[in-house]
Amino acid sequence: MRKATADSPLKVVVLISGNGSNLQAIIDTIAREKLPVVICAVISNNPDAYGLERARKAGIPAEVLNHRDYPDREEYDHALQQRIDSYGAELVVLAGFMRILTEDFVLHYSGRMLNIHPSLLPKYQGLNTHQRVLDAGDEIHGVSVHFVTPELDSGPVIIQATVPVRAGDSADDLAKRIHQQEHIIYPLVIRWFAEGRLALQGDQVLLDGKPITAEQRRYQGENKNPVTAAEST
Ligand code: GAR
Repeated sequence: MRKATADSPLKVVVLISGNGSNLQAIIDTIAREKLPVVICAVISNNPDAYGLERARKAGIPAEVLNHRDYPDREEYDHALQQRIDSYGAELVVLAGFMRILTEDFVLHYSGRMLNIHPSLLPKYQGLNTHQRVLDAGDEIHGVSVHFVTPELDSGPVIIQATVPVRAGDSADDLAKRIHQQEHIIYPLVIRWFAEGRLALQGDQVLLDGKPITAEQRRYQGENKNPVTAAEST
């Protein structure tokens, strides 16, 4: 894994479909923490995605690649891959990109494509996770950041944060609570990747060259997770 530096920052392309609050959190964290990361472009399949506006405001090229302009998934993903690669992206970040991806596309970015999913994977793959948690009567909900592999929402988990489910919660209440955690853990994982600390080996996540432990995979608050390699030893 390459350790990015201020002179040679990690090149990232972020894919979105909607509001882009995770994109915003990533933009803000890169600036605030001076991470060696440059977002080369934000690409949306949805022309109305508010995240495009967020990108433009931050001076980041914002592109629409509308899936409706393509005859099938293969052709769309092929065009998307060409756009991403034209930026020399080293990492692809799916931030609310609501598309099922073809196997060829996923394998092309093996070990360098991340997704955030609003559940404690492997629970609740797919859509409507907050409502499904409420329907099941779960007391704990959460969010996962994982490497993307061909099977939907099944890639190796890098980190998870939990939130409580409270009496009377609506799906919107849970979504808000989950978003707060997302905005912390997604930038943290991108930071690990930029620092050359994170890798995928087979179906195993490596942090600092060693299989990530259950402890490291559970986000427990700012001071408890290994923000730098030195702190993790
Ligand atoms: C986030 O909650 C993310 O976990 C979810 O979409 C939302 C996007 O919010 N992703 C998925 O459901 C992927 N299966 P945002 O546009 O405000 O970042």
